[in-house]
Amino acid sequence: MYINIRHVKDDDVDACYSVESACYTSDGATREKIEKRIKVFPEGFLVAELHGQIIGMVNSGSTDKEDIADEALKDMVGHKRDGKNIVIFSLAVLPEFQGRGISGKLMSRFIGVSKYLKKEKILLLCKTELISYYQKYGFLYGRKSTSTHGGFEWHEMYLSLRTSV
Ligand SMILES: CC(C)(COP(=O)(O)OP(=O)(O)OC[C@H]1O[C@@H](n2cnc3c(N)ncnc32)[C@H](O)[C@@H]1OP(=O)(O)O)[C@@H](O)C(=O)NCCC(=O)NCCS
Repeated sequence: MYINIRHVKDDDVDACYSVESACYTSDGATREKIEKRIKVFPEGFLVAELHGQIIGMVNSGSTDKEDIADEALKDMVGHKRDGKNIVIFSLAVLPEFQGRGISGKLMSRFIGVSKYLKKEKILLLCKTELISYYQKYGFLYGRKSTSTHGGFEWHEMYLSLRTSV
Protein backbone atom coordinates (compact mmCIF):
# COMPACT_ATOMS: atom_id res chain seq x y z
CA MET A 1 0.00 0.00 0.00
CA TYR A 2 1.80 3.15 -1.20
CA ILE A 3 0.84 6.16 0.88
CA ASN A 4 1.83 9.55 -0.50
CA ILE A 5 2.38 12.24 2.13
CA ARG A 6 2.24 15.75 0.67
CA HIS A 7 1.40 19.33 1.53
CA VAL A 8 -2.23 20.31 1.23
CA LYS A 9 -3.61 22.17 -1.81
CA ASP A 10 -6.42 24.76 -1.94
CA ASP A 11 -8.88 22.32 -3.52
CA ASP A 12 -8.40 19.68 -0.78
CA VAL A 13 -10.84 21.48 1.57
CA ASP A 14 -13.79 19.10 1.13
CA ALA A 15 -11.69 15.93 1.34
CA CYS A 16 -9.96 17.19 4.50
CA TYR A 17 -13.25 18.21 6.07
CA SER A 18 -14.60 14.69 5.37
CA VAL A 19 -11.64 13.21 7.25
CA GLU A 20 -12.16 15.66 10.13
CA SER A 21 -15.89 14.85 10.41
CA ALA A 22 -15.32 11.09 10.22
CA CYS A 23 -12.71 11.18 13.00
CA TYR A 24 -13.96 13.77 15.49
CA THR A 25 -17.33 14.24 17.11
CA SER A 26 -18.23 17.32 19.17
CA ASP A 27 -14.58 18.42 19.12
CA GLY A 28 -14.20 18.54 15.32
CA ALA A 29 -13.37 21.65 13.29
CA THR A 30 -15.92 23.20 10.91
CA ARG A 31 -15.33 23.28 7.15
CA GLU A 32 -14.57 27.02 7.49
CA LYS A 33 -11.84 26.33 10.04
CA ILE A 34 -10.25 23.68 7.81
CA GLU A 35 -10.41 26.04 4.83
CA LYS A 36 -8.75 28.80 6.84
CA ARG A 37 -5.94 26.51 8.02
CA ILE A 38 -5.28 25.50 4.40
CA LYS A 39 -5.25 29.12 3.18
CA VAL A 40 -3.23 30.62 6.01
CA PHE A 41 -0.64 27.94 6.77
CA PRO A 42 -0.36 25.24 4.06
CA GLU A 43 3.28 24.71 5.11
CA GLY A 44 2.01 23.13 8.33
CA PHE A 45 -0.77 21.06 6.77
CA LEU A 46 0.00 17.59 5.38
CA VAL A 47 -2.29 14.98 3.84
CA ALA A 48 -1.92 11.24 3.34
CA GLU A 49 -3.13 10.02 -0.04
CA LEU A 50 -3.92 6.54 -1.28
CA HIS A 51 -4.59 6.20 -5.04
CA GLY A 52 -5.38 9.94 -5.12
CA GLN A 53 -7.85 9.81 -2.20
CA ILE A 54 -7.10 11.78 0.98
CA ILE A 55 -7.36 9.33 3.87
CA GLY A 56 -5.54 11.23 6.60
CA MET A 57 -4.16 14.62 7.57
CA VAL A 58 -2.33 16.66 10.15
CA ASN A 59 -2.79 20.42 10.43
CA SER A 60 -1.35 23.16 12.57
CA GLY A 61 -0.75 26.81 13.37
CA SER A 62 2.27 28.63 14.72
CA THR A 63 2.76 30.92 17.72
CA ASP A 64 5.30 32.26 20.18
CA LYS A 65 2.92 31.39 22.99
CA GLU A 66 3.31 28.35 25.22
CA ASP A 67 -0.30 28.25 26.41
CA ILE A 68 -2.38 26.60 23.71
CA ALA A 69 -5.68 26.19 25.58
CA ASP A 70 -6.81 29.27 23.64
CA GLU A 71 -9.49 28.29 21.09
CA ALA A 72 -8.84 31.29 18.84
CA LEU A 73 -5.59 29.89 17.44
CA LYS A 74 -7.52 26.95 15.91
CA ASP A 75 -9.25 29.65 13.86
CA MET A 76 -5.78 30.99 13.01
CA VAL A 77 -6.40 34.09 15.14
CA GLY A 78 -3.00 34.99 16.60
CA HIS A 79 -1.23 32.61 14.19
CA LYS A 80 2.27 33.87 13.44
CA ARG A 81 4.03 32.12 10.56
CA ASP A 82 7.43 32.60 12.12
CA GLY A 83 6.33 31.79 15.67
CA LYS A 84 8.77 29.61 17.57
CA ASN A 85 6.24 26.86 18.30
CA ILE A 86 4.08 24.82 15.93
CA VAL A 87 0.76 23.62 17.31
CA ILE A 88 -1.04 20.53 15.99
CA PHE A 89 -4.82 20.98 15.77
CA SER A 90 -5.96 17.77 14.06
CA LEU A 91 -4.26 14.46 13.41
CA ALA A 92 -6.74 12.12 11.80
CA VAL A 93 -6.93 9.00 9.68
CA LEU A 94 -10.22 7.70 8.21
CA PRO A 95 -11.50 4.88 10.48
CA GLU A 96 -11.30 2.24 7.73
CA PHE A 97 -7.58 2.98 7.29
CA GLN A 98 -6.59 3.20 10.95
CA GLY A 99 -4.13 0.76 12.52
CA ARG A 100 -1.87 0.58 9.44
CA GLY A 101 0.80 3.06 10.43
CA ILE A 102 -0.60 5.97 8.40
CA SER A 103 -0.65 8.46 11.27
CA GLY A 104 2.93 7.39 11.99
CA LYS A 105 3.94 8.41 8.46
CA LEU A 106 2.13 11.75 8.84
CA MET A 107 3.75 12.43 12.22
CA SER A 108 7.26 11.57 11.07
CA ARG A 109 6.94 13.89 8.09
CA PHE A 110 5.34 16.58 10.26
CA ILE A 111 8.28 16.45 12.66
CA GLY A 112 10.65 16.80 9.67
CA VAL A 113 8.70 19.76 8.28
CA SER A 114 8.66 21.43 11.71
CA LYS A 115 12.45 21.12 11.93
CA TYR A 116 12.80 22.52 8.39
CA LEU A 117 10.64 25.48 9.47
CA LYS A 118 13.06 25.92 12.40
CA LYS A 119 10.42 25.53 15.08
CA GLU A 120 11.60 25.03 18.65
CA LYS A 121 8.75 22.84 19.80
CA ILE A 122 5.70 20.97 18.58
CA LEU A 123 2.79 21.46 20.98
CA LEU A 124 -0.57 19.74 21.07
CA LEU A 125 -3.53 18.94 23.27
CA CYS A 126 -4.68 15.34 23.40
CA LYS A 127 -7.23 13.20 25.16
CA THR A 128 -6.15 10.94 28.03
CA GLU A 129 -6.16 7.75 25.91
CA LEU A 130 -3.67 9.19 23.40
CA ILE A 131 -0.96 10.31 25.84
CA SER A 132 1.01 7.08 25.31
CA TYR A 133 0.49 7.32 21.54
CA TYR A 134 2.31 10.67 21.41
CA GLN A 135 4.98 9.48 23.83
CA LYS A 136 5.98 6.94 21.14
CA TYR A 137 7.09 9.87 18.99
CA GLY A 138 9.12 11.37 21.84
CA PHE A 139 6.51 13.83 23.10
CA LEU A 140 6.68 14.65 26.81
CA TYR A 141 3.77 15.26 29.12
CA GLY A 142 3.29 18.94 29.97
CA ARG A 143 0.24 19.24 32.20
CA LYS A 144 -3.48 18.85 32.27
CA SER A 145 -4.97 21.59 30.09
CA THR A 146 -7.55 24.11 31.25
CA SER A 147 -9.37 23.41 27.95
CA THR A 148 -12.68 21.54 28.13
CA HIS A 149 -13.20 21.70 24.36
CA GLY A 150 -16.03 19.42 23.17
CA GLY A 151 -16.70 18.38 26.78
CA PHE A 152 -13.46 16.32 27.02
CA GLU A 153 -10.45 16.41 29.31
CA TRP A 154 -7.26 17.52 27.50
CA HIS A 155 -3.56 17.17 28.19
CA GLU A 156 -0.67 19.29 26.93
CA MET A 157 2.11 17.40 25.20
CA TYR A 158 5.28 18.81 23.65
CA LEU A 159 8.25 17.72 21.57
CA SER A 160 11.43 19.82 21.69
CA LEU A 161 13.14 19.97 18.30
CA ARG A 162 16.32 21.87 19.10
CA THR A 163 19.23 19.74 20.14
CA SER A 164 21.80 21.44 22.34
CA VAL A 165 25.12 22.33 20.69
C1 LIG B 1 -5.13 8.60 16.58
C2 LIG B 1 -5.11 8.23 15.10
C3 LIG B 1 -4.68 9.46 14.29
C4 LIG B 1 -4.11 7.08 14.88
O1 LIG B 1 -4.03 6.81 13.50
P1 LIG B 1 -3.52 5.38 12.91
O2 LIG B 1 -3.11 5.59 11.49
O3 LIG B 1 -4.56 4.37 13.18
O4 LIG B 1 -2.26 5.10 13.82
P2 LIG B 1 -1.04 4.14 13.47
O5 LIG B 1 -1.57 2.95 12.71
O6 LIG B 1 0.06 4.95 12.84
O7 LIG B 1 -0.62 3.71 14.93
C5 LIG B 1 0.60 4.04 15.49
C6 LIG B 1 0.66 3.46 16.88
O8 LIG B 1 -0.28 4.12 17.74
C7 LIG B 1 -1.15 3.19 18.36
N1 LIG B 1 -2.49 3.77 18.43
C8 LIG B 1 -3.27 4.12 17.37
N2 LIG B 1 -4.43 4.64 17.82
C9 LIG B 1 -4.38 4.61 19.16
C10 LIG B 1 -5.28 5.00 20.17
N3 LIG B 1 -6.49 5.51 19.90
N4 LIG B 1 -4.90 4.84 21.46
C11 LIG B 1 -3.67 4.33 21.76
N5 LIG B 1 -2.78 3.94 20.84
C12 LIG B 1 -3.13 4.08 19.56
C13 LIG B 1 -1.15 1.99 17.46
O9 LIG B 1 -1.45 0.82 18.21
C14 LIG B 1 0.28 1.98 16.93
O10 LIG B 1 1.13 1.39 17.87
P3 LIG B 1 2.34 0.43 17.39
O11 LIG B 1 3.19 1.30 16.49
O12 LIG B 1 3.00 0.07 18.68
O13 LIG B 1 1.67 -0.68 16.68
C15 LIG B 1 -6.49 7.73 14.59
O14 LIG B 1 -6.92 6.69 15.45
C16 LIG B 1 -7.57 8.80 14.54
O15 LIG B 1 -7.74 9.47 13.52
N6 LIG B 1 -8.34 8.96 15.64
C17 LIG B 1 -9.43 9.92 15.70
C18 LIG B 1 -8.92 11.34 15.79
C19 LIG B 1 -8.01 11.56 16.99
O16 LIG B 1 -8.35 11.23 18.12
N7 LIG B 1 -6.83 12.15 16.73
C20 LIG B 1 -5.86 12.51 17.74
C21 LIG B 1 -6.06 13.92 18.17
S1 LIG B 1 -5.62 14.19 19.87
